[in-house]
Amino acid sequence: MIRSNYFDKSVSRETLGKILKYHEFLIESNKKLSLISKSTEKEAIERHYVDCAQIIKYLDKTDKSILDIGSGAGLPGIILDIIKKDHNLNFSTHLVEKSPKKSNFLKKANSFLDLDIKIHNCDVKQMEIKNFTTLVSRAFKPMKEFFNIINQSQIKFKKIILMKGEKFMDEFIEAKKYFEINCEYHESITNPGSKVFVIKGVSKN
Ligand SMILES: C[S@@+](CC[C@H](N)C(=O)[O-])C[C@H]1O[C@@H](n2cnc3c(N)ncnc32)[C@H](O)[C@@H]1O
Repeated sequence: MIRSNYFDKSVSRETLGKILKYHEFLIESNKKLSLISKSTEKEAIERHYVDCAQIIKYLDKTDKSILDIGSGAGLPGIILDIIKKDHNLNFSTHLVEKSPKKSNFLKKANSFLDLDIKIHNCDVKQMEIKNFTTLVSRAFKPMKEFFNIINQSQIKFKKIILMKGEKFMDEFIEAKKYFEINCEYHESITNPGSKVFVIKGVSKN
């Protein structure tokens, strides 16, 4: 059974049930696919689901369409979509994942969980839809590479939320050599070394 102070305080029983259903489906699928590292399965609730859910506080009603880039197992996109109702949000959720096997998992999870997420199995640079209010991404690419990819993809956005690990400062300094970045960053509640970057604008120097 899922036990999490964070979810106990922030979501309904029904939502918690859906997170548990996602968890069971993910762990079963992880036997054949590398969706999350096997060593993190036992601590998946805190390490993955709470970690992803925490970024919902940087979203509001102006975030109408969200694209999760390099979604893998659906992190953070699926978790955000499951919990949005409990936060009075109603965005549409899109996931882009270039691996056909992982995309297949995402499609099955979407229907198993009765969600209405749009899944795009392609390289993000090949996305046909080019307009989103919000981009989110976790453990995808270093910041400089991420901004280069977004530039090449010609995707338009109003906000980016990037979940960054312990090398966040090195990545930020490197990216700032090439890009003007209008952002703030916040402590992660699950890992003191990690940060959540909320980016309102990026342009090439
Ligand atoms: C390290 S995983 C992170 C997955 C997930 N976001 C998480 O936090 O667990 C990065 C994912 O990005 C996908 N990916 C890499 N390059 C991509 C691209 N250009 N377009 C779309 N997906 C890509 C990979 O297939 C992989 O599933």
